[in-house]
Amino acid sequence: MFINIFFLLVMMAVSVLFGWLARRSWKTRNTFSKWGGRILSGLLSVLVGFASIATVIGMVKSYTPRTAPVPDLKLAGTSEQIQRGEHIADTFCTSCHSVSKELPLTGGVDIGEDIPIPVGAFVSANLTPAGPLKDWSDGEIFRAIRNGIDRDGRGLFVMSNIRGRNLSDEDLQALIAYLRSQPAVVNETPNPLDQPNILGFIMLGIGVLPSDQPLITDVITAPSKGPTVEYGEYILSYQDCRDCHGENLLGGVEDQLTPLGPNLKVVAGWTQEQFIATLRTGVDPSNHALDPAKMPWKSIGRMDDEELTAIYLYLSGLP
Ligand code: HEC
Ligand code: HEC
Repeated sequence: MFINIFFLLVMMAVSVLFGWLARRSWKTRNTFSKWGGRILSGLLSVLVGFASIATVIGMVKSYTPRTAPVPDLKLAGTSEQIQRGEHIADTFCTSCHSVSKELPLTGGVDIGEDIPIPVGAFVSANLTPAGPLKDWSDGEIFRAIRNGIDRDGRGLFVMSNIRGRNLSDEDLQALIAYLRSQPAVVNETPNPLDQPNILGFIMLGIGVLPSDQPLITDVITAPSKGPTVEYGEYILSYQDCRDCHGENLLGGVEDQLTPLGPNLKVVAGWTQEQFIATLRTGVDPSNHALDPAKMPWKSIGRMDDEELTAIYLYLSGLP
């Protein structure tokens, strides 16, 4: 934080300096250095000035506290809930909150490293009872997953932009019950977890990095779990398939920050068994091996037959 403010002040000073040089070069008698110096210093002054303004906008966006009510939860913590919560964690949250992409959820993974531009560090939290959540209420954990706000009211950059916010109220409660029931595994993580650098603030300021999604305050209900198109649609509402495969799943767009996923209409030409086998083995019906560093088939493939069938039904019906 202080280093960023220091850089911001340096940029502002440099901008003023070039502005002054531009004026000053006007006074020289040599026509070449008069015009050359003026244009060059002027341009640099404007450029660095623009970057400083973008940085300030990015910082304001990033440090403006986010507010949303903390729901008053009374968790039963039944064994069904814990099981369901473990399943969602294992097929989704582990992709970022676990070094081995499998349980336990000890965090410590820097998601910033997956972004092709160096925008800073965004380190996932230790979600086991050895991490900060042991001091949070159930409602505060609910709010962090649903609306990307931490216990102190700070916006959580990654959490406020992922689709996990669309998990149903019931599934979120199951997740919290599971998080509480895990064994405590110590793993120190930085505080704060988000450490954007100057470039990160500039990107945020000019809107290349997304800023927080609108708050959700309504109750979210899921269709009952089963091999149906509706349930497939629900799974795709909280999983991140669209971040890589495009909003309509017909293929990602060039220059997106995530790996470019192909058009998923291809699935319509596969049988249900072929689809399930592809996500369980990482090899598709044409014998092409999927790169696990780009396509997270290992965690997706841990979904049960009902869930994978539901996704298959949804994808094979894509318009
Ligand atoms: C795309 C990667 C990603 C996924 C998927 C993800 N998280 Fe996170 N999570 C992060 C990062 C990074 C942070 C650190 C703050 C930030 O940038 O959001 C974080 C922070 C959190 C926090 C706040 C902890 C604190 O100490 O402030 C909670 C709670 C949390 N995640 C729970 C979950 C749960 C539960 C899931 C699964 C439903 C999940 N996350 C899925 C990346 C992810
Ligand atoms: C982080 C980006 C990313 C996410 C998230 C992601 N995919 Fe992919 N997916 C890819 C990429 C990249 C490929 C191509 C991999 C390769 O060919 O090595 C791919 C390949 C596939 C294929 C195989 C296509 C073929 O013709 O072989 C299927 C099916 C698929 N993804 C489905 C899904 C589903 C369903 C989800 C969500 C549950 C999902 N993907 C989430 C990036 C992603």
